[in-house]
Amino acid sequence: MIALIVNARHVRATVEPRTHLADFLRDGLNLTGTHLGCEHGVCGACTLLLDGVPARSCITYAVACDGAEVTTIEGLDDDEVIVELRAAFTREHALQCGYCTPGMLIAARDLVLRLPVADDRSIRIGMSGNLCRCTGYVGIIRAIHSVIAARRARGVTAIAGAGRQALGPAGSGHGDETPSDQAAETPAQAVPATASDAATSIPDFKPETVIERDFVVTHPPRRVFDFFGDIPAVAACLPGASVSASKPDRAEGEVRVKLGPISASFAGIARIERDPASLSGRIVGAGNDRRSRSSTQGEIRYRLVPADQGAATRVTFSIGYSLRGMLAQFARPGLVRDLVERMTADFARNLERAISGVSSDDHASGEPVLDGFAVLGDVLRERVRHFFRRLIGGSSSGET
Ligand code: FES
Ligand code: FES
Repeated sequence: MIALIVNARHVRATVEPRTHLADFLRDGLNLTGTHLGCEHGVCGACTLLLDGVPARSCITYAVACDGAEVTTIEGLDDDEVIVELRAAFTREHALQCGYCTPGMLIAARDLVLRLPVADDRSIRIGMSGNLCRCTGYVGIIRAIHSVIAARRARGVTAIAGAGRQALGPAGSGHGDETPSDQAAETPAQAVPATASDAATSIPDFKPETVIERDFVVTHPPRRVFDFFGDIPAVAACLPGASVSASKPDRAEGEVRVKLGPISASFAGIARIERDPASLSGRIVGAGNDRRSRSSTQGEIRYRLVPADQGAATRVTFSIGYSLRGMLAQFARPGLVRDLVERMTADFARNLERAISGVSSDDHASGEPVLDGFAVLGDVLRERVRHFFRRLIGGSSSGET
């Protein structure tokens, strides 16, 4: 049972815990102005106001909105900004089929309230979370620009925050905070504020995604384990990673990645644990990228197993991570898995060379980055090659 305010009306309802807010509004309250496109938090069609702040109703559980104030496009009929925006959208031909328009209007309203001046670049960035299948972006930007410019010319100033009263995503802060809630605080919020915070303050966490891999290096396990104790040397084997300070039990540094159109530099710290008896170890780290407003918490667990009668080492490891922010939208599991595949191959090759005393190619080239697009290109090429191999293999087997 939840009680919330929808478009200034008190509503009480019993909802399934798995029902998202958009379904609750559309199916339960017949408020069909909230549209559903991707239902993955990507397209913005389902945008509405949750406690006055734009939020994606397709990735918001209705039960999480107990006590919240929800405003859909229907509740904004007389809103002065929406009235101006509606007129501007019509004037500038900013809609064709109109499917994206409710979400566009609500996202645009937020920009009209908050942007101090009409600046196309800021408008484009602010609207980048709303997709239009009819691709009417130019008209949309023009419409928003014109409303902001007109309001500022009339002396209506921007409102700092525009409804944001608390940190955290829109709609947060309604649930009772219990000790278990605090313990389960999301990794993105748990990142220590400064690198000078003790590494031991990095909490353990349950990764949302875990990928397991292994590879073999032609050096004995003890030698590899000793090498793993040299953090700057290990970082030098990983394209995109750099270490600014390190001790045996902690390190500070940066990892640069590129996923889809987004580049990010995660600066953070890591806690390092090693167990010489079992030749195993763990690195738990957390980092933030200010530009893409993304944050991550990650963990690498490894174990060194003798191979080739002890002359070589099988490095078995798992990478667990949780990602928050803009980058999370592009980090599709398949793409991340391919990125890890490439990262593992590069790391294994560089590790082999480093332990053998040969310098690494990747770091010799200057600006290494873990590049998801490059990986995607490789993957596509490999899939095309595979397709033609199967085609040729299939026809030749038909002939024999
Ligand atoms: S339907 Fe919610 S973001 Fe696409
Ligand atoms: S106007 Fe058709 S999806 Fe935007």
